Amino acid sequence: MLTMGSLPVLTFICVVCAVWSLGHGQQVGYGYRLVSVDQGSDGSLIGSLELIQQTNTYGPDIPHLRLYVKHETEDRVRVHITDAQTKRWEVPQELLSREQAPADLPVSSRKAKPAKSAFEFSKFAGGELIVSFISNPFGFAIKRKSNGDVLFNSSYGNLVFKDQYLEVTTGLPATASLYGLGENTQPNGIKILPKEAYTLYTTDISAINLNTDLYGSHPFYMDVRNGGISHGVLLLNSNGMDVFYTGNALTYKVIGGVLDFYFFAGTSPLDVVQQYTALIGRPVAQPYWAFGFHQCRWGYKNVSDITNVVENYNKSQIPLDVIWNDDDHMDGAKDFTLDPINYPEYKLRPFLDRIHANGMRYVVLIDPGIAINTSYGTFQRGMADDVFIKHGGSPFLGQVWPGAVYFPDFLNPKTVNFWADEISHFHQMVPVDGLWIDMNEISNFCSGKCSIPTNRSCPGTGFPWECCLDRTNITATRWDVPPYKINASGTQVPLGFKTIATSSVHYNGVLEYDAHSLYGLSQAIATHKALQNLLDKRPFVLTRSTFVGSGSYAAHWTGDNKATWEDLRYSISTILNFGMFGMPMVGADICGFYPDTTEELCGRWIQLGAFYPFSRDHSNLASKRQELYLWDSVAKSARKALGLGYRLLPYLYTLNYDAHTTGAPIARPLFFSFPQDPETYAVSKQFLLGPGVLISPVLYNKTTSVNAYFPKGSWYNLNDMTMAVKSSGQYVTLQAPMDTINVHVCEGMILPMQRGGMTTTVARMTPFTLIIAFPLGFQSTGGKAKGHLFLDSGEDVDMKIAEGKSTYVDFSAESDGKKVRLVSQVESGSYGLSQGWVVEKLMILGLSKSHLSSQIAFQLDGKPFTSSSFTYSVQPLSTSAEQSQGGGAIMELNGLALPVGRNIDLSWTL
Ligand SMILES: *[C@@H]1O[C@H](CO)[C@@H](O)[C@H](O)[C@H]1NC(C)=O
Ligand SMILES: *[C@@H]1O[C@H](CO)[C@@H](O)[C@H](O)[C@H]1NC(C)=O
Ligand SMILES: *[C@@H]1O[C@H](CO)[C@@H](O)[C@H](O)[C@H]1NC(C)=O
Ligand SMILES: *[C@@H]1O[C@H](CO)[C@@H](O)[C@H](O)[C@H]1NC(C)=O
Ligand SMILES: *[C@@H]1O[C@H](CO)[C@@H](O)[C@H](O)[C@H]1NC(C)=O
Ligand SMILES: *[C@@H]1O[C@H](CO)[C@@H](O)[C@H](O)[C@H]1NC(C)=O
Ligand SMILES: *[C@@H]1O[C@H](CO)[C@@H](O)[C@H](O)[C@H]1NC(C)=O
Ligand SMILES: *[C@@H]1O[C@H](CO)[C@@H](O)[C@H](O)[C@H]1NC(C)=O
Repeated sequence: MLTMGSLPVLTFICVVCAVWSLGHGQQVGYGYRLVSVDQGSDGSLIGSLELIQQTNTYGPDIPHLRLYVKHETEDRVRVHITDAQTKRWEVPQELLSREQAPADLPVSSRKAKPAKSAFEFSKFAGGELIVSFISNPFGFAIKRKSNGDVLFNSSYGNLVFKDQYLEVTTGLPATASLYGLGENTQPNGIKILPKEAYTLYTTDISAINLNTDLYGSHPFYMDVRNGGISHGVLLLNSNGMDVFYTGNALTYKVIGGVLDFYFFAGTSPLDVVQQYTALIGRPVAQPYWAFGFHQCRWGYKNVSDITNVVENYNKSQIPLDVIWNDDDHMDGAKDFTLDPINYPEYKLRPFLDRIHANGMRYVVLIDPGIAINTSYGTFQRGMADDVFIKHGGSPFLGQVWPGAVYFPDFLNPKTVNFWADEISHFHQMVPVDGLWIDMNEISNFCSGKCSIPTNRSCPGTGFPWECCLDRTNITATRWDVPPYKINASGTQVPLGFKTIATSSVHYNGVLEYDAHSLYGLSQAIATHKALQNLLDKRPFVLTRSTFVGSGSYAAHWTGDNKATWEDLRYSISTILNFGMFGMPMVGADICGFYPDTTEELCGRWIQLGAFYPFSRDHSNLASKRQELYLWDSVAKSARKALGLGYRLLPYLYTLNYDAHTTGAPIARPLFFSFPQDPETYAVSKQFLLGPGVLISPVLYNKTTSVNAYFPKGSWYNLNDMTMAVKSSGQYVTLQAPMDTINVHVCEGMILPMQRGGMTTTVARMTPFTLIIAFPLGFQSTGGKAKGHLFLDSGEDVDMKIAEGKSTYVDFSAESDGKKVRLVSQVESGSYGLSQGWVVEKLMILGLSKSHLSSQIAFQLDGKPFTSSSFTYSVQPLSTSAEQSQGGGAIMELNGLALPVGRNIDLSWTL
């Protein structure tokens, strides 16, 4: 319990002049003093801060601040600082529900204890984080109880708190490895590097732009320190911000809102993401089919065009689950319409009936901008319901693909209903299986306040993305031109550049200035809700713009990338970052969005892309076509990589379950499984799927080998399980012929696989194989492996263990070198039994060569096991380039029919 009387009072430390200047000798702020502290009724601590000295740089300082600190859980502490007198903007509870910091408590009128100097408090006896303060100038620090490590210390700079400028700096040890702070394309890999700018402000800038603010805003970072001890830090704030990292300090410069820090204690990287998603919401459950392959293109001219694409995939025997339309199906790029010539309903419907009958799905794009057209129903209803974002009392005018548009305001509950009704109308005409919400940063082809030209048509004859509205000047209120310029678009453009004016107003008077980066989140919530209510199935929504918490509603792709080898490489860091942001369903446009791809690049890209959690080929209107069947070599790579990917579907789908229930990313950096190995901290050209499937792609042209890092242990090649790497924690050169990507499974894993198929619908009903990976050539040291499996219909709204609806199985195997035993423990088995799923095959990897000639006796549930179809074989592991020191063997048990829904206890002597 918090007992103020017994707080250890540390020696008074005067932080002499941590003076932070602008480099022009201009002082931004002098900081605050902590004048009193008191205990809140909720077990929190509430402090009063008083300004030390006023400056006018970036506006006047706010004189009185309220500090609120609460240990919300054993491993999470919140430090919230706001104006003590006036309510300020915070991320709305409707978008991100969380414990509320109390409304202004009359701290000063209560008998608050004057803050003497510095002290510490910790509410929970078992809590791992300790908050301490220095009172003059005020600073707070977060310390880890178990090892005393200081995780965050704001005394490295003066706290600055003005209406439109907040600044806080923490010191960091030079050895810390930082990750996160996106969305950002990081050319130098996944680690946050000193001197690279991190600006967070949602913007329609393509992913080819390096180190600039892109489509999403995620003010979260993970800090991995010596020995892999990790923690996370979220600054929950939706205003634009610059974050600067120098290598030994990190400074936030934020243009509004409040300082609302959450610290997550870890201590493993996985713990950090679990704790982070416990706050912001667990990742949404994705339908089974979403893990199949998706084909899209901007420029599918008509229904026969997409019909041919689907047929060609089938003819080429390349798996395909989902066919997409960008905006080609629309009438004049208007949402919820069909082009009457090229995509008439009477042609599209039979096509959809056919693909649905073949177990495939269809997804289309919608943009937020609603075309201004009095004969367009969606527009009429939107006007009638008054759903649009306003400026000066009337809807804010912008221009996107259909021409002049208004933007729905998803902060308005009426808009959420309007949106659901439009989706429902559309669905009656076009039974889509999911929706793709694009351009929701919001993207606008014009800037500032405009009007519809009266003397010419708009769009006119120019490119559709050229502004054709009459421009008045960019609006110039303090919301449009704040005193501090964040590095928007990497060039300090005005906040309203190519988006809506930040002086625009949402429901309830909320300023676009504050809510700008929340637009994509608010639209994803509305779209997710609409689809779920309509279909009574698990919705699939793909969104471009994201914020903290978007992963609870939608998947993400990395946006417009380039068909280059560099972009192929960059995709990995962005995907891994989104896993840490609680948005694990993510991928990049396979083969590149534009310009023309090349055969070799596309072949290597599908090899990698087959293992993106979200695997979609997408290209631009002006690029050459890039469907995977167009080149024989690419088709061959696709069959091989997607073939393996489709056999791994039960593993991937179980990772979807793990993500949904614990937050664990699907694609993970290597350090998630090997946090004690510092060599893994910067690995950005390989990644793990789940805890132990290592993807080592070729990322350079004219290359047929890959120098891959293998953390300590035995790794088995999933393309040829007789090949293994026994690593002491080292780089190994692997052969990577043009049609092959290296995929390895780590010792200790039991990997559930199936036979695969041309669609996930077919693949998910096939018999199972279990890959049991023991350490290579183990003898008396023994071997252990484990894994688990979640099975359900693949599209129930709820994804959870429920009798008759789903089945969960824990597998474990062990061997002492003389005997092997595999045990499964089934929870809620009836669903698995009703579907007739069986394990047909076991592959036991890593047995010793001495097992080769053994006479083997099998026992099932303690009784001798015989079956007419059952066979087994043992073969040596290859001693090729992927050398197996000491040799080893692989044992295959085939022709089994062990029901997945029933406990298995199979053992045999070697
Ligand atoms: C935080 O930094 C200040 C200034 O460097 C230092 O005096 C103080 O001891 C630090 N606090 C902790 C908990 O390390
Ligand atoms: C569909 O579009 C393609 C490509 O532009 C064209 O060749 C074909 O004639 C069109 N088919 C129909 C039925 O309109
Ligand atoms: C592929 O084509 C075959 C033969 O026409 C057909 O039976 C099968 O249903 C098709 N599969 C898919 C997924 O379209
Ligand atoms: C308005 O919408 C109608 C119906 O969708 C369409 O035919 C017409 O071309 C549109 N008008 C303009 C100016 O885009
Ligand atoms: C149309 O009107 C605008 C604003 O009055 C003017 O700037 C522009 O030159 C006019 N364009 C034409 C083609 O007359
Ligand atoms: C636009 O800006 C220019 C130069 O800043 C100014 O002269 C002009 O009056 C402004 N026009 C409007 C309509 O505000
Ligand atoms: C803004 O970002 C760009 C792109 O990373 C960078 O080159 C530039 O130095 C940054 N400018 C400032 C003022 O931080
Ligand atoms: C392949 O790489 C070489 C250099 O390694 C470069 O000169 C060449 O342009 C690249 N070709 C393509 C198509 O990227």
